Amino acid sequence: MSNYDVGYIIGSLSKESVNRILSKALIRLAPPQLTFAEIPIKDLPLYNRDYDVDYPPAGRALKAAISGVDALLFVTPEYNRSMPGVLKNAIDWASRPWGDNSFALKPSAVIGASPGKLGTALAQLGLRSVLGYCNSPHMTSPEAYIQFRPDNFTQDGEVLDDSTKQFLTGFMADFATFIARVHSAVPQHG
Ligand code: FNR
Repeated sequence: MSNYDVGYIIGSLSKESVNRILSKALIRLAPPQLTFAEIPIKDLPLYNRDYDVDYPPAGRALKAAISGVDALLFVTPEYNRSMPGVLKNAIDWASRPWGDNSFALKPSAVIGASPGKLGTALAQLGLRSVLGYCNSPHMTSPEAYIQFRPDNFTQDGEVLDDSTKQFLTGFMADFATFIARVHSAVPQHG
């Protein structure tokens, strides 16, 4: 299998984000052909279409970062049964200006963690719908709704619970296979 660069986007700006811990765990457990770089979203202004004539540096940097990777991994919290506004704002930036949608044919996967039992299921449902509209082929199976228990993870992303570790390892292996499948079927630009 080829090597792929994966950009990961964390839908939380919190310094204590459990989704950031989850992202560290995913990177640890991913197969070696995947290389990771975070795509930051914290400096983006709130999008409005007046920017389309001349994107500011933060908007250009976001689009360049997405263009430079082979796939995207979204690691998101759930806010009020939806994705956080910071993540939706970043997606709106990257989807525009009209005709220059950064997500087109870019393979992606979605995962998220919450202290609650639904494990971000509703946020992910909405995010998948958005990615579908943005024409990003996204992995539909396995789904990964992680109920975050502090005892199961160290701060630097070591997974202490065996079944969680096995599940996340399988999720990342399946993501690598999915990326390869999309790249073999769809010519990539950028
Ligand atoms: C939450 N939280 C939350 N959890 C959940 O499972 N479903 C939800 O709808 C919500 N809604 C929600 C709204 C707002 C405004 C906040 C601040 C929090 C709790 C949330 O899962 C928890 O704070 C996580 O720790 C957030 O993820 P990060 O920031 O730690 O990665």
